[in-house]
Amino acid sequence: MRNILVTGGAGFIGSNFVYYMLSRYDDCRLVVYDKLTYAGNLDNLLPVQDDPRYTFVRGDICDRADVEAAVRAHAIDTIVNFAAETHVDRSIMDPDAFIQTSVYGTYVLLEVARAFGLERYHQISTDEVYGHVPAGRSSREEDKVDPRSPYAASKASADLLVNAYHVTYGLPITITRGSNNIGPYQYPEKVVPLFATNAIDHLPLPVYGDGRQMREYQHVRDHCEAIDLVLRRGQVGEVYNVGTGVEVENLAMVEILLDALDRPRSLIRHVTDRPGHDRRYSLDIHKIMALGWEPGHTPEEAIAETARWYRDNEWWWRKIKSGAFREYYEAQYGERLRTAAPLP
Ligand code: NAD
Ligand code: TYD
Repeated sequence: MRNILVTGGAGFIGSNFVYYMLSRYDDCRLVVYDKLTYAGNLDNLLPVQDDPRYTFVRGDICDRADVEAAVRAHAIDTIVNFAAETHVDRSIMDPDAFIQTSVYGTYVLLEVARAFGLERYHQISTDEVYGHVPAGRSSREEDKVDPRSPYAASKASADLLVNAYHVTYGLPITITRGSNNIGPYQYPEKVVPLFATNAIDHLPLPVYGDGRQMREYQHVRDHCEAIDLVLRRGQVGEVYNVGTGVEVENLAMVEILLDALDRPRSLIRHVTDRPGHDRRYSLDIHKIMALGWEPGHTPEEAIAETARWYRDNEWWWRKIKSGAFREYYEAQYGERLRTAAPLP
């Protein structure tokens, strides 16, 4: 029996990880510990809410007493930390919560893991810690971190702390650095769910700059499978990249998405670019593949499948997009879209 504290488990990847683990193993217990920020959503966990192996605890990872109480009450042996502020554009608008949660919050979790002698602390990190990657190269785990947005810097800082706790205190840690995840229950501020839900409503798709930036769009289920593998077979103290090995230009992603939803290219709007926008991420995934993992979806399958999930699950996203999201959308896109030229 493994008792896992899934911090940030009411968000996109964390909730998918909870399903994945409950559907794969009979003998594990998952305790979601989540602050329920704007991105946390108990609707994401509706399919497991009656499962006796699942428990929800509302709490902040920055609150040591609350984290300790959860670890003690549920006899936790493993922490998998998904909790973070996660949207680059919001980190540019207001970085404060990013630093608080990813730097101080990760430190608190590490302290608790050390005090309780946990069997494993696993940190969910990102390809963004490597910064922009020039054409012809892919980031390897031993490359230096070179983050360029407040979000990426907060995540890289967390990775450094996690590694320091391993080296200094012998804490049994592992780190996975995932690429851009897509799939069910992703808050519609990220590009794929934002564009899918806009396209469903025949609204414009605000493509930053020339749209030639490259990302590895990965199905969230593949990422969850890799995290589980690293928990079981990963070497303590090691970092594992988890991507697709195939980078896709944003405009190509948009075309796949529009085709899947049967919407025209005329919805595309090129708008003012994001400041400091990293043009390319690319991961070398040989190390995780050597553990016996490979991506289960091509990027095309992942993008099209995801677009169709949003088409078929309006109950999930319509209430999000009608709330405080509207203010965010106006601040982020209002002026950009008013001054954007449509496609010729
Ligand atoms: P998300 O924004 O959907 O969810 C984050 C969750 O963390 C939310 O449920 C939120 O309520 C919770 N949270 C935030 N601050 C908290 C705090 N102080 N205490 C407790 N809970 C808190 O994010 P996501 O896309 O699911 O990302 C999960 C993790 O994966 C993050 O660490 C992110 O950096 C990393 N990651 C994401 C991607 C991606 O493409 N989405 C790619 C690679 C890595
Ligand atoms: P995003 O989903 O924000 O992930 P990240 O910046 O963490 O990779 O964005 C993915 C790509 O899509 C990135 O190159 C920025 C671009 N993008 C747009 O062109 N328009 C948008 O409205 C958003 C949110 C992103």
